[in-house]
Amino acid sequence: MAKLKYLGHSCFTLETLGTRLIIDPFLTGNPMAGAKASDIKADYVLVTHGHGDHFGDTLEIAKNNAATVVGPNEIAVYCQGKGLKAHNMHIGGSWTFPFGTVKLTIAHHGFSSGGESNLILGGNPCGFLITVEGKKLYHAGDTGLFMDMQLIGEAGIDMALLPIGDNFTMGIADAVRAVEFLKPRKVVPMHYNTFDLIKADPKEFQARVKGAVCVIMAVGDSTEL
Ligand code: NI
Ligand code: MN
Repeated sequence: MAKLKYLGHSCFTLETLGTRLIIDPFLTGNPMAGAKASDIKADYVLVTHGHGDHFGDTLEIAKNNAATVVGPNEIAVYCQGKGLKAHNMHIGGSWTFPFGTVKLTIAHHGFSSGGESNLILGGNPCGFLITVEGKKLYHAGDTGLFMDMQLIGEAGIDMALLPIGDNFTMGIADAVRAVEFLKPRKVVPMHYNTFDLIKADPKEFQARVKGAVCVIMAVGDSTEL
């Protein structure tokens, strides 16, 4: 069974049949981080976009583990320029890796903001639809609500990871609508309470979600897909 662990903000690890993935590894500088970047063991690092609270410790983790970075072309090229292994992808494309399939989905958001911890690059942010062991996991990345979530949901999603923190992404009301569009079996809120600007009550989200089981993961919690 594929095991998903929450490390805070939008960072999760996924372990499947001996392969270890980490998504949006923002640990250093995250007041709620569930691990230290230097302790992470990963074979793949999946990155949705260049903002510091998602790209985070990608370079250090990929270097320490000789891991492959997977993400939008602009991020992959940047990482290759740093001497790292990376798999270039883009929105709408999927690729079958030894562990399973990754498809890049749209996300309505920005990409980079410059500064030391951010990529100074253009590009599009993305979400990930990940298929492992016959299960489908959707990590929305940072995004506002969009109708095409209905299209993404046609894949038959077992678990959706959705931002609820508002201000930079969907808030609770729109995330509740996202669940209606995506129709996942289970939904996990993310991207909230890390900073004052994204304070949200996951219990309120849980109470309002219809048609899916809402699993609130505390930092450090693990669950099966
Ligand atoms: Ni962002
Ligand atoms: Mn963010």
